[in-house]
Parts: sequence; C-alpha cells; structure tokens
Amino acid sequence: MKSIHLSLLAAAMAATLTTAQAAPKIKVGLMLPYSGTYAALGNAIENGFRLYIAEHGDKLSGREIEYIKVDDESDPSKATDNVNKLIKRDNVDVLVGTVHSGVAMAMAKVAKDTGTLLIVPNAGADVVTGAMCAPNIFRSSFTNWQPGYAMGEVVAKKGYKKVVTITWKYAAGDESVNGFKEAFEKSGGKVVKELSLPFPNVEFQALLTEIAATKPDAVYTFFAGGGAVKFVKDYAAAGLKKSIPLFGAGFLTDGTLEAQGADAAGLLTTLHYADNLGLARDNAFRLSYAKSYKLQPDVYAVQGYDAAQMLGIGLAAAKGDLSKRAVFIAAIEKAKIDSPRGAFTLSKSHNPVQDIYLREVTGKENKLVGVASKALADPGRGCHM
Ligand code: PHB
Repeated sequence: MKSIHLSLLAAAMAATLTTAQAAPKIKVGLMLPYSGTYAALGNAIENGFRLYIAEHGDKLSGREIEYIKVDDESDPSKATDNVNKLIKRDNVDVLVGTVHSGVAMAMAKVAKDTGTLLIVPNAGADVVTGAMCAPNIFRSSFTNWQPGYAMGEVVAKKGYKKVVTITWKYAAGDESVNGFKEAFEKSGGKVVKELSLPFPNVEFQALLTEIAATKPDAVYTFFAGGGAVKFVKDYAAAGLKKSIPLFGAGFLTDGTLEAQGADAAGLLTTLHYADNLGLARDNAFRLSYAKSYKLQPDVYAVQGYDAAQMLGIGLAAAKGDLSKRAVFIAAIEKAKIDSPRGAFTLSKSHNPVQDIYLREVTGKENKLVGVASKALADPGRGCHM
C-alpha cells in the first residue's frame, strides 16, 4: 500500500515537473458563427486554422494551442459580451474572428480598447482596417471594397451601362456595392437602383420582380453562405438568369456550389481565390485539407489557414513570447505570407494586398478565368497608426 502511494506521488511530481517546464499553451479565442446562414463559413475557417497548426506538429514556436470557442451567431447585439468573456473570463492570448462585419466591428472596438491581439479571418468591414485600424489588429481575408471594386471594372469592360445591385442591408453588402459602384461609375457605367433586404432574410421574390421590371443590362450582388445558395436558385427560378447577367463578389459561389447545382453554372465572380490556381502551394494545401476533412476547401478555409500562418510568423519572431509585442507585430507587417491564394503582403493598415481573380462556375468549381485586379490594395481610408 505504502509503496503504491509513494510511486503515485513520484509520478505526480514528475508530471508537475514536466508541466512546469513546458511553455504554457497559447489560448486562441475562436469567435465564429457555428449556427445560422454563415455556419458553414465558420466551420471552414476553423478547419483551415487547425490544419495549419496540425501541419506544424500541433504547436507554434514550441507552444501548444488551446482553443476556446464561441458561437457568435452572426449577431452584432451579442458581440461585445461574447468578446469580453473571451478576454476577461477566458484570458485568451489572441482573438480569431469573425465572419460577419457587424460582429467584427464590435470585436475590433474591444480589441483596440484592451490591446488584445485580433486576427480577422473573414469579415470585410472596411473600417476594421480603415478608421478603426490598430497595431494589434490584422486581417487575413479582404475588405468588402476589394472584390466589389474589381468586379466594377470587369462589368464596365464588358460594355454594360445600367446595373441594379441587390444585397443584404449591412456593412458587408453596402461596402461591396460601394466598391463596385466606385469602379463601375468611374468607367462610365451607372448603378440605377440599389436593392436590399435585412440580414439574414431570404425573401427575394419582390426584389426579383423589381429587377425584372427595371430591365438593367446586368445585376451585381453580394450574398454569402446559406443566403447565397437561395439567391442563386431563386434568380434562376424567376427566369432572370437567361435574360439579365448576374455578377457577384465571389462569396456568391464559394462553398455553395454543391447546393446550387446547375443554377450556378457559368456565373462570373471576383475573389482572392479560385479552385484551380495551379500553384504548388495551393495544390499541397488542397490535398492536405481534403485528406483531413474529406471536403474540398474554399476561400474561408484559406483565410483560416492564413490566420494561423500569420500568428505563426509573429510567434516565431518573438520566439514564442507574446509579451514581445513589438517584435511580433513587426514580423507580420513585413512578412510575405505564403498563402494558397498566392503570396501576399499586408498594407499599412494590416489588410492583404492581393490579386483579385475573375472566376467562372464550371461544374462544382470556381474556375480561374484570369486576374481581374493585380495586387489590389484597399485604400485604408481613415487609418492613422
Ligand atoms: C461580412 O460580413 O463581412 C462577410 C460575410 C460573409 C462573406 C463575406 C463578408 O462571405
């Protein structure tokens, strides 16, 4: 009996010693939508993030990762409470989130006020790397302006003059349309009507009737996730696909093609990713992702993967010590991030400067047509760092 006790004690002491020697885990607060119209996007981001960590032996700079997950439900009214819990109750070292621009703006405000590191793996809210920019806030994705602006140039070049836009009435939809309009009208086009409905509503019928009555040359849209699936199907069912060409920010057809089926065939969209880039880095990533998850990756998976890469770059420079904040930040700022989308750097306001591709839906893929806008940088309006 006694000897059993003693050996248990010895084992316990040995365990304590090894724990004491190992560096503490890095606490990552994953604040993402795991329910609602953007649920699949949140899951893909988490998958991508975890894949990068797994490829590096489940550690970054010798430190294991601990995840604390919150379902933000894409609900801005709950965002400040959620993010405060992660910071104050869970003591996370870094926040990773989110998909929805309204929620991301609340996260950025708290991150800025508390100095917590934040990496945004999707939400495109222009102000996050604009007026709200801060040294501790980074984005691995895009601004809403970027794909919209690129598509404005594409549609103008095709010779279309009169366009109707349709989107959800919140920052992402508004800013995507603004980016489109800026480029399209600069090239002589005119946005004749801006239609919208509240997020995340999918009652499109009345608006589709209005599009049919307006008879524009083309339609530009921002929808994503479950809403994008329904919009593409409803647009085709209303008979509009045959008469009025539909263009969108690439979220319209990313991660959605399985569900959209033939109704998405031939759609042209602009985005910082495509399914057949043919880059060695992307081929390896796609293989690794498919092996791990039995799923094809999409743009959200890439952005999650790159959020982990950016954290890894900062940590490597700081030798795993997050208190070396200035070193951590400087390393990410000057990095060339080896993304599956193609390598990118960050603008002064910490947003990717990246190629925006024109893609065409062919079968179950967003096939690369060409580069719509080379090394496109968001203007970062209002950012003073
Ligand atoms: C956003 O709210 O910024 C947002 C959401 C989903 C997307 C893209 C942008 O696919």
